[in-house]
Amino acid sequence: MNDKNLEMSFLAQPNHVNYHGSVHGGSVMKWIDEAGYALAVRYAQNNCVTKMVNGIEFLAPIHIGDLIYIQAKVVHQGTTSLRIEVDVASENLIEKKRKKNCTCELTFVAIDAEGNKTTIK
Ligand SMILES: CC(C)(COP(=O)(O)OP(=O)(O)OC[C@H]1O[C@@H](n2cnc3c(N)ncnc32)[C@H](O)[C@@H]1OP(=O)(O)O)[C@@H](O)C(=O)NCCC(=O)NCCS
Repeated sequence: MNDKNLEMSFLAQPNHVNYHGSVHGGSVMKWIDEAGYALAVRYAQNNCVTKMVNGIEFLAPIHIGDLIYIQAKVVHQGTTSLRIEVDVASENLIEKKRKKNCTCELTFVAIDAEGNKTTIK
């Protein structure tokens, strides 16, 4: 792992379930934002806020008990903003099969103590 990458990994829990028995899309969006946020703050060494979430597409369902991998990568550094690509994959541990579930791009803006944008050094 380096400064431009971050990976989070955890099990899909029963409390993540939606009305169809797989993982709730809202939970996935929260994890995407959290991974992007953690990477943005660590990369910028500054607090950051989410400015934009682009092109979120759910490609395949995640099942309860799957191991989830959230991978975030800095793809562009601006003056005050960072564009971060986040990929979500899940692994069925019994079959040892991993599939891609979701991908999207987020923009985070570095902010100062007053909540105003600030330059990323
Ligand atoms: C983030 C915030 C401080 C930015 O202030 P702002 O005056 O809108 O800033 P600007 O329009 O000058 O844009 C700042 C940066 O974001 C980028 N940006 C602005 N709008 C954007 C958009 N729609 N998509 C992608 N990037 C965008 C700009 O290009 C600029 O990047 P750069 O400095 O690297 O060139 C302000 O919009 C804000 O507080 N938003 C609410 C954030 C929030 O509550 N998020 C949810 C909870 S974390």
